[in-house]
Amino acid sequence: MIESLLAQLKAGAFDSLSRAESVTDIEGLRVRILGKKGELTEILKGLASVAPNDRPRLGQLANQLKDEISSVLNQKLVLFQAQESQNKLRSEGVDIHLPPIRRLIGRRHPIQLVLQDVVAIFSRMGFSVKEGPDVETEYYNFEALNIPADHPAREMHDTFYLENSLLLRTHTSPVQIRTMETQSPPIKIIVPGNVYRCDLDVTHSPMFHQVEGLYVDSTVTFSQLKGTLVYFLKEFFGQSRKVRFRPSYFPFTEPSTEVDVECGRCNGEGCQSCKQTGWLEILGAGMVNRKVVLSAGYDPDQVTGFAFGIGIERLAMLRYNISDIRLLYENDLRFLGQF
Ligand code: PHE
Repeated sequence: MIESLLAQLKAGAFDSLSRAESVTDIEGLRVRILGKKGELTEILKGLASVAPNDRPRLGQLANQLKDEISSVLNQKLVLFQAQESQNKLRSEGVDIHLPPIRRLIGRRHPIQLVLQDVVAIFSRMGFSVKEGPDVETEYYNFEALNIPADHPAREMHDTFYLENSLLLRTHTSPVQIRTMETQSPPIKIIVPGNVYRCDLDVTHSPMFHQVEGLYVDSTVTFSQLKGTLVYFLKEFFGQSRKVRFRPSYFPFTEPSTEVDVECGRCNGEGCQSCKQTGWLEILGAGMVNRKVVLSAGYDPDQVTGFAFGIGIERLAMLRYNISDIRLLYENDLRFLGQF
């Protein structure tokens, strides 16, 4: 009885196995035949009513069958798993010969690179960063800096005037006054920012960047100004770069100076870039004028200071050998990608 049931089971099982086509089919068959409530288990329940003498032989027979079916199930399982993962790979496959999609990665603008460097160098000397408004009053941009309305220096500035006697600041120097008004010495700041002048050619842009510097304390000297600027310029351009100070004039500093660095193109020999002089002007500076100290609310006999203003575009053009300032504002990726 049990023997014939086992034989039937075997025939049915192998028939089903031969028709199985997938991992799911195999798993289903395993449950149907060998599972806890499966066909084989049902047959084995019948063993209880078999003569004790027959039991071991029938039990062995059932176990053999179970092993046989298991091993075929496992073989087929491995086969179908391999097939199915092949199919999956094929359907999801990528053509590795296709060129990759290029991701554009942003970079810092050369102006920002230079600004970062300038700020880093002055930070090492103890200067902290301050900012001021781009829209200024005539008072902060001119009057408080000892540039009264009839002063010829106003013409040099090619100012963009706005309504209500407001204007776009022509330099970062108004922040000197704003800071001295609200802070007491010692003051040691740099002021990076945008400035505006009505001017446009290969070396001038209507908007450009300056970094103002201001150091005010009880006894600030011209030699400290020199030391500070020489340190900065050598850090920025390299230790071997020559630097020179020329006397100059600004209404808000006295004495005033302009600082040149040796032309990097001709190494001081004289070329087109430096108009055959061997030098390039890089910044204006001087001791804060007594009148400015006074208009900021301090006693010029108690407080002295130095100030400087550096053109950032100038530094960028020299460092990266850029001959036309307008390249810096055209946002041409072929240009910007070089930095
Ligand atoms: N503000 C001046 C300019 O824009 C530069 C300067 C700043 C000169 C501070 C002296 C002191 O030309």
